[in-house]
Amino acid sequence: MGQVKHIVAIASGKGGVGKSTFAVNLACALARSLTEQGRPNRIGLMDCDIYGPSVPLMIGINARPEMEGEVLLPVENFGVKVISMGLLIEADAPVVWRGPMIMKTISQFATNVRWGELDVLLIDLPPGTGDAQLSIAQAMALSGAVIVTTPQTAAVAVALRGAAMFEKVGVPILGVAENMSHFEGPDGQRQYLFGQGGGLKVATALHTELLGEVPLDPAVRQGGDHGIPVVISHPDSNAARVFKSVALTVLRKLVSVS
Ligand SMILES: Nc1ncnc2c1ncn2[C@@H]1O[C@H](COP(=O)(O)OP(=O)(O)OP(=O)(O)O)[C@@H](O)[C@H]1O
Ligand SMILES: [Mg+2]
Repeated sequence: MGQVKHIVAIASGKGGVGKSTFAVNLACALARSLTEQGRPNRIGLMDCDIYGPSVPLMIGINARPEMEGEVLLPVENFGVKVISMGLLIEADAPVVWRGPMIMKTISQFATNVRWGELDVLLIDLPPGTGDAQLSIAQAMALSGAVIVTTPQTAAVAVALRGAAMFEKVGVPILGVAENMSHFEGPDGQRQYLFGQGGGLKVATALHTELLGEVPLDPAVRQGGDHGIPVVISHPDSNAARVFKSVALTVLRKLVSVS
């Protein structure tokens, strides 16, 4: 991992809040930002959700990674280099593994993948705040973590537990992203389907900043299902704008933690 400048985990604690969606869109937005700044495109995304890898589908990759001897080469799309368990197993094969095997796979992802030179490697963590997440946080020499939450109270408590885990191992929290913040109806009125204020609450409790509020938007879901993330398919949508702005903030913050 010597040529990887920054490793950033995308975490939440609670499942289904949109970590993978966020990781994929952030990765694509980061790749775009670098291109727009005239810098070489060096963004990677590592899917550590061994049981339910969703990154390949969301970023439109189904090719198997090539191997050079023992080393895996990541597969690239939209300027993002990706490695995921989902690329290594048959589509419908159940993954029935025990903890030690998972850790072995994760450490192989860390050591046996030829990432090349990367500015940022994002890590999509599986849901939960257990041993698996803790070991990954410790194994990966993280520069920081981004906590994803929804506005609702149930997600807030779990997000705080997730963040505490990073603090325990000395990983700085770069900020909090609120997903599914509101839905904008055809009349332009905002509806707060999952309540309001969860992201700000988590950010305040962690003494960090609220990086952005991503609206609930069918185009985000479709982007994931069709493998063309919303930042690529609808770059001018509000959701895409938030992802892009979060990408710029994360780039800026990484410069200051390095
Ligand atoms: N802002 C959004 N607007 C609409 N749909 C969304 C949004 N964010 C996520 N989704 C949808 O919600 C579902 C859950 O998202 P996702 O898989 O990214 O969550 P996750 O936190 O990674 O889940 P898990 O905990 O299982 O890993 C997906 O179907 C995704 O397309
Ligand atoms: Mg996920």
